[in-house]
Amino acid sequence: AKVHHHDFVVQATPVKRLCKTHNTITVNGMYPGPTLEVNNGDTLVVKVVNRARYNVTIHWHGVRQMRTAWADGPAFVTQCPIRPGGSYTYRFTIDRQEGTLWWHAHSSWLRATVYGALIIRPRQGDEYPFPKPHRETPLLLGEWWDANPIDVVRQATRTGAAPNISDAYTINGQPGDLYNCSAKDTIVVPIAAGETNLLRVVNSALNQELFFKVANHKLTIVGADASYVKPFTTSVLMLGPGQTTDVLITANQPPARYYIAARAYASAQGAPFDNTTTTAILQYKSAACSTTTSKCVSSKPVIPKMPAFNDTATVTAFTTSFRSPRKAPVPTKIDHNLFFTVGLGLNNCPRGARSRNCQAPNGTRFAASMNNVSFVLPSNFSLLQAHQQGVPGVFTTDFPANPPLRFDYTGNVSRSLWQPAQGTKVYRLKYGETVQLVLQGTSIFTAENHPIHLHGYDFYIIAEGFGNFNAKRDTAKFNLVDPPLRNTASVPVGGWSVIRFVADNPGVWLMHCHLDVHITWGLAMAFLVENGVGKLQTLEPPPADLPKCN
Ligand code: C2O
Repeated sequence: AKVHHHDFVVQATPVKRLCKTHNTITVNGMYPGPTLEVNNGDTLVVKVVNRARYNVTIHWHGVRQMRTAWADGPAFVTQCPIRPGGSYTYRFTIDRQEGTLWWHAHSSWLRATVYGALIIRPRQGDEYPFPKPHRETPLLLGEWWDANPIDVVRQATRTGAAPNISDAYTINGQPGDLYNCSAKDTIVVPIAAGETNLLRVVNSALNQELFFKVANHKLTIVGADASYVKPFTTSVLMLGPGQTTDVLITANQPPARYYIAARAYASAQGAPFDNTTTTAILQYKSAACSTTTSKCVSSKPVIPKMPAFNDTATVTAFTTSFRSPRKAPVPTKIDHNLFFTVGLGLNNCPRGARSRNCQAPNGTRFAASMNNVSFVLPSNFSLLQAHQQGVPGVFTTDFPANPPLRFDYTGNVSRSLWQPAQGTKVYRLKYGETVQLVLQGTSIFTAENHPIHLHGYDFYIIAEGFGNFNAKRDTAKFNLVDPPLRNTASVPVGGWSVIRFVADNPGVWLMHCHLDVHITWGLAMAFLVENGVGKLQTLEPPPADLPKCN
């Protein structure tokens, strides 16, 4: 196994999109940032130098970080942020994960522009469990604001209202030729007739679930979240922010140009959605194209028919098609049977607050919670350091195993029933304990799809459904044979997902909705997993350059 050294300089860089130049926070001047390529079993050593004027951390999304929670990255969870002028070296090993992951900033909304792909190929000497593709292309779906994203979130926090939606969706940082001033920079993915390309699709958008499609081509899914899946074929993908999907595409159509396109899956009833589409171009390197290049390039690409923005049926058909390639070691004896509600809330305007600070519906402020706890990050300590050094008063360990009140989560819930209480609460697990967790979406304010991401773990998604989870009825649907292994579960709009995992990685691990606007409002909690017995079950000591708190 190899050790890969990288330097990441976080810095402001002028970036021109949608006809305007913005000073944009980037890594090494690149937007999106550098692609990291490793093999399973390799070690990454990434020195992050902060030359920006914001605090920053980098999270290696989906990397299990076995015993190296110090390298996980979420600000105030596993580390205090790297201050302007500071640096921190993330050191971790890829352990039994293959496929596509990604990295992104994990403080405020910096990840809007600070992100990149992390490609994990099979161990040296191993092959893919599918025919070797002729090419591989990472495709990072994103969102672009015609403003500084940090200002957008600050404004929302000040007013209590929903933040402005983005001005464009992007593929590898480019809006594509349906947006103003963007046509000439549209990403082109070349392919030769008969070739197969492995597309590594990542939803790195801040706040938007996205459909993804290539005109006239079938997509064969072979992996997701750096685990292989039993291959299946589809014409459209849906990815929640945080999720990755590896697909094979074969050039078996008449040589031409075909749009690769992504647009919103906006499941929220009544919430604003942007119906614009980002595009790249799959371009055949055919004889016709190479001899009359200009003609080929000027021909209009074939347009795919995208699903409607609220096409939940297509989403369900897709998400329920995932299977592990073989029988999976799903835990069957459950130590913690948990039920967490996930959803929005509305807080009354605090006493004495001005109306301009309470601009959510009816003079309230938006909030979000799990089990009615709206998560508040510590501001001068990290949860992991507080835990490891035994510092009291930073968090409490009373995150509830069940919601404080049970009612019809899909109904028109009265606001008075659901005003989340703020807290920095963790749920404690002993090393090796098994967890079943029902994630129940609520319809408080609006029912929508929530991409729930757990740090430090992969989990099996053993079932999902609509309405209220009913243990008697729904246990029969559990797939304990070959459920997919993921790090981000798309909890259906007005429905639920059930996940299982074994707490075999000591540390403090954030679990949150990967729509950043929902994290901002508190849709998060953390699991505290204690050390087991012996070195192999114990968190490593903190690195000497771990950023200082306070
Ligand atoms: Cu990809 Cu906590 O995030």
